Amino acid sequence: MFQIKTKFPDNFLWGGATAANQFEGGSNVGGKGLSVSDVYYFDEDIPKEQLSNQWLKMTRKQVEEAQDPTIKKYYPKRHGVDFYNHYQEDIALFAEMGFKAFRMSIAWTRIFPNGDEQEPNEEGLAFYDRVFDELNKYGIEPVVTLSHYEMPLNLVTKYNGWVNREVIDLFVHYATTVFERYKGKVKYWMTFNEINSCKHHPYVSLGLIDEDHLHLEQAKYQGAHHQFVASALATKVLKEIDSEAKMGCMVSYTLFVPYSCAPEDFQKTMDRQRDALLFSDVQVRGYYPGYTARLLADRNVVLKMEPEDEQILRNNPVDYVSLSYYMSSAVSAQPENLEGAIGNLLVGGIKNPYLPESAWGWQIDPKSLRSALNQLYDRYQKPLFIAENGLGAVDTLEEGDIINDDYRISYLREHIKQIKEAIADGVDVFGYTSWGCIDMISASTNQISKRYGYIYVDQDDMGNGTKRRIKKQSFYWYKHVIKTNGEQL
Ligand code: BG6
Repeated sequence: MFQIKTKFPDNFLWGGATAANQFEGGSNVGGKGLSVSDVYYFDEDIPKEQLSNQWLKMTRKQVEEAQDPTIKKYYPKRHGVDFYNHYQEDIALFAEMGFKAFRMSIAWTRIFPNGDEQEPNEEGLAFYDRVFDELNKYGIEPVVTLSHYEMPLNLVTKYNGWVNREVIDLFVHYATTVFERYKGKVKYWMTFNEINSCKHHPYVSLGLIDEDHLHLEQAKYQGAHHQFVASALATKVLKEIDSEAKMGCMVSYTLFVPYSCAPEDFQKTMDRQRDALLFSDVQVRGYYPGYTARLLADRNVVLKMEPEDEQILRNNPVDYVSLSYYMSSAVSAQPENLEGAIGNLLVGGIKNPYLPESAWGWQIDPKSLRSALNQLYDRYQKPLFIAENGLGAVDTLEEGDIINDDYRISYLREHIKQIKEAIADGVDVFGYTSWGCIDMISASTNQISKRYGYIYVDQDDMGNGTKRRIKKQSFYWYKHVIKTNGEQL
């Protein structure tokens, strides 16, 4: 009667993931407008290590200056790796690996360059038509994120980003436009990439630039609330346009573990986990969970909600839950006593002494992926999609076009083993798109030298190079994994 599932499901969606702003390039061609990710404070007097994180926290003055093309210190930023012109070649390589799915985002600013126009930019719409047609040609399912750190810059300066409720309608107009256009071509959608990252990157996630907004929890949670409503309304419209289509939420899921067995550490860990769970709770269950009142009060946040919001959220939950998983992190109630145990700057927490880490200090913990999947499935009983997972590393191109990235293979192998374990635990996981299946610009460092791909791109941190695509060792390995449906790792 009870049978353990020992295999990946037959129709499992194996593939890779990208984001328009890190991959496409062509940020100023085809009628595209500027997004939060296209500008970058680029001052040669600032040391490279300090420069890399600058874009995560741009000020109003910087964003305004960045829109003036005569002020050169903000350019270049996202030259991507020119998927805009290489899409046929890249998709053919994905097909050669046997991809069943390809996660990508639509750049909002290719469709609505300023974010608040009525009429869309036909050239932008036509570009994604070509991309989806090419994917469909090979039977690759597109999985499309509507907003992956790609808010139009005009909405940042003119509207103050997501803190302004008017942005909801602008987003829903954009979503409606692409749902209508790509009906029948795209089945799987996601609204906001890593929606909970607004806590750490209020500029890239919410378009907040004013000092009081950047540092105030009030603005971050208010912006997030507007995104929840926008996401629910987009889900509603999607169902009206295409009843076959599926909408997912997407959270950055770091698994937090107590640093010690002290009850205080356990308690604090539960609180930290809610930094992600609040965001999936609202989108999956359709209402704010019981712990919200205290969580907001502790942060002096008073949410402004319209009378219809509760109903909108309740009536339009998502169909599936997607997550990015890169690492776990330890939590202590007394981190100040843990000298030297500095944690990850992006997600918080402190270092776990049992775990190795990548060159960028991201702690590697495949087993906690299994725990994360179990936690989310126990909580929601909805299908799970792993939208991102991978190892950022420096790769060396050796003579004869050889890139031996066995470290990447070993990272991915261990994580895929744990997905299989989770499936045996009874978790419904229906897809895995590893991050950066082809090298592109890293979000946190802004440099290509932090590479994730199965495919190497000949380009340096300044955007120079032939952009030639070269297969790494991991390309052949992943191809075999897909061919054997995860049986041979
Ligand atoms: C995720 C983002 O947080 O991590 C991606 O959704 C990002 O956009 C990925 O690229 C890896 O991070 P990084 O900073 O190494 O590129």
